[in-house]
Formats: sequence, C-alpha cells, structure tokens
Amino acid sequence: MAAVERKILTARMTQPGYSVRIEDYLAAGGYAALKKAMAMKPEAIRSEVTRSGLRGRGGAGFGTGLKWSLVDRKSGKPIYLICNADEAEPGTFKDRQIIHRDPHALIEGIVCASYANDVRTAYVYCRGEFAQGYKILLAAIEEARAKNFVGKNIFGSAYSLEIYVHRGAGAYICGEETGLIESLEGKRGYPRFKPPYFPAALGLWMCPTIVNNVETLANIPVIIQMGGAEFAHIGTPGNTGTRMVGVSGHVNKPGCYEVELGKITHGELINGLCGGVPGGRKVKAIIPGGSSAKSIRGDERFKGKKRDGTAYDWGWQDVPVDFDSLAMIGTMAGSGGVIVLDETADIPKAIANIAEFYAHESCGQCTPCREGSLWMAKALHRMTHGHGQKGDTDYLKSIADNIPGRTICPFGEACAWPVQSFVEKFRDDFVKLEK
Ligand SMILES: Cc1cc2nc3c(=O)[nH]c(=O)nc-3n(C[C@H](O)[C@H](O)[C@H](O)COP(=O)(O)O)c2cc1C
Ligand code: SF4
Repeated sequence: MAAVERKILTARMTQPGYSVRIEDYLAAGGYAALKKAMAMKPEAIRSEVTRSGLRGRGGAGFGTGLKWSLVDRKSGKPIYLICNADEAEPGTFKDRQIIHRDPHALIEGIVCASYANDVRTAYVYCRGEFAQGYKILLAAIEEARAKNFVGKNIFGSAYSLEIYVHRGAGAYICGEETGLIESLEGKRGYPRFKPPYFPAALGLWMCPTIVNNVETLANIPVIIQMGGAEFAHIGTPGNTGTRMVGVSGHVNKPGCYEVELGKITHGELINGLCGGVPGGRKVKAIIPGGSSAKSIRGDERFKGKKRDGTAYDWGWQDVPVDFDSLAMIGTMAGSGGVIVLDETADIPKAIANIAEFYAHESCGQCTPCREGSLWMAKALHRMTHGHGQKGDTDYLKSIADNIPGRTICPFGEACAWPVQSFVEKFRDDFVKLEK
C-alpha cells in the first residue's frame, strides 16, 4: 500500500502561503476544544494528556503528561508556560508551518495547556529570524482576544490568561529550555545547571515553568476533543499521535509531511511520500532527527530485539518513523528533521558544514564544548581544504568522544554526535583526506 500522510495538525493547511484566519478556524471547529476544556477541571485535562501518551515534539520526546505532573504546584509562586518556538536545529522546519499557516491551533493549545496548569501568563519564545511568523502570531492573538479566547475572563469565566510573544536574537542555544529562560529574563542565553534549575520547580524568574514545543502544544486541543484514550490509538503504543517531519536534502519532493508515528517506515517516507532520490541514486546516509542526530548509513543493517521480544533485522528503509525505533538503532527522532544524502554527497564536507554551525553556536560556558566544537570544525575545515594531517581522523573521533557527559547542557552531545557517527561510519572518506 502506498504511504499516506495522516493529516491532523496539518488538516487546515490546504492552501500554500495562506495563514488560517480566525473565521476559517472557527468554521472548522476551532476553539471548541477550549470551550470543552473550560468546562473540565484542570486536573482532568492533565489526566487526558497523560492518557494520550503524547511525547514532546521538541527533541527529547519526554512525556508531556509526565512533564506537567512534575510542576511544583505547592510553592505558592505563579506557574509559567513557555512555548518553545525557537526552531533552529538545522534540517527542522515543522513548527514554522504551524506558526505561519495555522497560528490559532497553537494559540488554542497554549490557552488549553495554560488553563490545565493554572498558568496566568504564557510566553511564546519565537526564533528571531521568524519575522513574518512573529507578526502572524501577534495578529492571531489579537483576533483571539477580540473573541475573548485570550485575555480577561475567557469565555466569561474567572480564568484569565495573557500571552506575550518574545523574539529571540538568533542564537541556537536559546532553544535549549534553560538558555531560553535566561534569554527571556533579558540575560545572555547561558544554559543553567540541572540540578538544581529544573524548570518544573525553578524556571522563569525562579518560578515553576513548563516549556513545551509548538507542535506539542498544537496537539493539546486534539487530545481534549477526542479524549486521551482515542488519541492513544493513533500511532503505536509508546509513540502515539502524528509527527510533522521535515524532509530535506537529496529527495525529489522535500517538504513537511505529517505521518502517524510508527505506522510508516523511512523507506515509505523517502521513496514514497518524498518521491525517492533524484536520478534513482542510492542513499548514502540519513540524518533522521535534525543535524545533531547520529547518522544512518545507506548500507547499514540493524539487528536486535524489540521490547516485546520480537527480533528485527532492518536496513534504513525498514526503520519505522518513531521515537523508540530510532533509539533502538542508536540514533534519535530528535526535532523531526530528516536529511537525506545520496551517493554523490561529500560526507566530510557535509559534516564540516554541520561542525562549523555548532562551533559558532556554542555558548562558551563549558571548556569541552567551547574548545572541542571549535577544534572539530578547524580539523574538518583543513581536511576538506586539502590540508588534512596524519592522524586527523582519530583526532576528530577522540575530541567527539570526550565532549558528551562533560558539559552543562546537551549541546555537548548535539555537537559531538554527528562528528562521532560520521567518522565512525564513513572512516575511509576521512582517512583519505589525511596527508
Ligand atoms: C541545544 C538545544 C537546542 C534546542 N532547541 C530547541 C528548539 O529550537 N525548539 C524546541 O522546541 N526544543 C528545543 N530543544 C529542547 C528544549 O530544551 C526542550 O526540551 C523542549 O522545548 C521541550 O518541549 P517538549 O517537551 O514539548 O518537547 C533544544 C535542546 C537543546 C539541548
Ligand atoms: S554545553 Fe556548550 S552550549 Fe551548553 S552550556 Fe556548555 S558551552 Fe554552552
């Protein structure tokens, strides 16, 4: 059977370049979930979200219900919600689809999530480069306010919520939740130590804070409307719902596709929905979850046992698009950006480009990350410019091996994993650049 999309979040994105206005959103049943939510107790909504099995779409795939359950509700301090709309991971372009094309889905999600968590002030931390998205969001919030879906006494109730949209200044590290919080507080976006600064207890202004991704929040009205149990039937157990996957690189039809988690393989995604690789060439490598995810080789085989004990023996084509399957083969679904490199790709050049990005974006607080990311970028630069030195391949690998686990935030892993995996999996391509 031909691979098909499962359009839930993207259902209203029917016209390219058109942003759904509130009239269209209402006509399509929009804000009915909010109305339903407001008639429910906040804890009942949180239970539905837990029951849905929704996992965060920002990168780590952390359970949304579990994240909400960890919020310190006894501190007596206000609870904040931050929508992470920083989306700066190379290869990732899904959140901007929601912001640009269906902004009310996000606003409704923010209001529902805020009501469910007794939040009175919510922020959208918007990537600085999203100049257009920022304007669209502001206009949509005003449309929602005019209908009393945002602001004082929503739907005539005692519940009020203010939403502020804050633009970043173009730093990738401000997508990391504690760096984001620092930036929102008006400081340099330096990630904080965890512990003690887990946002659920000590987040924005040292108050309990929920940080959720755009796509995560856009799923909340869907869960409220259909109920957590029904939502859990979409996708597969442990990997529920759909995922908006951005596919780029060597494919005939790059774009953002919404697929049911675990119900479609990477082969069906790339060869089916994306129309295959140009010229029928072979896949050399796939980066499955944004540029920080470990790569998969086109000719690699993955063997092992699934959690239920059944054996698997997969090539890249067979790997289901979901969190657990990608984790089983040693990589991750990450930010939902799939980058395809065909046999014409120059692997060292590709990773040199990625390494340069990370060296530029390291915030510089931790020596292994600040120096290591730069050393890797420099070594890759000389190797790809005809000045590779004997032992550079091992040198690269040893730097990449020594960063993870030694830094304040997971950027250390993010900058090391792509180099580690490319050098391990395509060693010959690097060794031949040594002089
Ligand atoms: C270096 C780095 C960059 C990140 N960038 C983003 C981002 O742009 N957008 C995002 O939603 N999450 C990003 N994250 C993950 C966030 O820290 C956080 O886990 C996420 O926003 C939580 O939302 P979720 O639970 O809905 O997935 C990043 C993490 C790291 C370590
Ligand atoms: S790991 Fe890198 S980005 Fe994260 S705090 Fe340390 S230096 Fe900054």
